[in-house]
Amino acid sequence: MLKGKTALVTGGSRGIGRAICLELGRNGASVAFVYAGNEEKAKETLTLLAELGVTAKAYRCDVADFTATQQLVKDVTDDFGGVDILVNNAGITRDNLVMRMSENEFDEVVSVNLKGAFNLIRHTSAGFLRKRAGRIVNITSDAGLMGNPGQANYSAAKAGMVGLTKSVAKELGSRGITCNAVAPGFIHTDMTAAMNAQILETAQQLIPLKRLGEPEDVAKAVAFLCSDGAAYITGQVICVDGGLRM
Ligand code: NAI
Repeated sequence: MLKGKTALVTGGSRGIGRAICLELGRNGASVAFVYAGNEEKAKETLTLLAELGVTAKAYRCDVADFTATQQLVKDVTDDFGGVDILVNNAGITRDNLVMRMSENEFDEVVSVNLKGAFNLIRHTSAGFLRKRAGRIVNITSDAGLMGNPGQANYSAAKAGMVGLTKSVAKELGSRGITCNAVAPGFIHTDMTAAMNAQILETAQQLIPLKRLGEPEDVAKAVAFLCSDGAAYITGQVICVDGGLRM
C-alpha cells in the first residue's frame, strides 16, 4: 500500500510514535524517525522495524530547533531520496495550573508540540510541492479540542496544531498534498503512565468504549490517512479516543 514511500515520523522512539513507525512499515513504507535523546529506545524501535524487514534510520534532533530540523530534512532526503509522508508526533507535557505555570513551562511545550510541527512542515513542503504529492498527519490531542485543567500550555499548543493543519491543508491542497490531524484521547504510553491513577480511572468511566486506547489504535488511523484511500480527506481532525469527545 505504501511501497516505495518514505515516512518521516517525529518522536518515533517510543509510545504512539513507535507504533506509527511500525504500522507504516508494515504497510510497505521506509521509515526515518526522529527522537529527542533516548538512544536505547530508538535502537529498540530500529530492531522492531528490522524484524519486519523495513528499511529504517533513526535521527537524533530537537524538533523545536528550526535550523536543526532543516538539516534533518536534508539528511533524510540524502539518505532516502525524499520524503512522501510526514507525521508530526513528537510531544511533551509540562503540566501545572495556569496561575502557577512558569514562562518556561509554557514556552517549552509550545516550542516542541506546535513550533516543532511547523518546522517540519516548513522544511518538507518544498519537496512535497515538487512531487505534487504528500501526506502530512499532525498528532494533536483531545485536550486541544476540549481543554484540560492543568494543561493550558499543552491544550493551547495542540489547539494551535489544529489551525496549522487546516491552513496547510488549504495552502497545499491544490498540489495533491493532504494535511490532517489525529486527536488521541487517553492512550496507554509513558505519557499517561506518569498521570494520576485516579484521573485515569475517572476518564475510563467517561469513555463510551470503557477502556484506554492503545498506541496501535492511533497508528491505524494515521496509516489510513497516509493511504491512497484517504486521497480526498484533508483538513480534518480524526478523534481516536473511544468516543470521549463527540
Ligand atoms: P511519549 O512521551 O511516550 O513519546 C514522545 C516522543 O516524542 C518520544 O519519542 C520523544 O523522543 C519525542 N520527543 C519529545 N520531545 C522531543 C523533541 N524536542 N524533539 C524530538 N523528539 C521529541 O509520548 P506519547 O504518549 O507516545 O505521545 C505521542 C504524541 O501523542 C504526543 O504528541 C502527545 O502529545 C500525543 N498524545 C498522547 C496521548 C496519550 O494519551 N499518550 C493523548 C493525546 C495526545
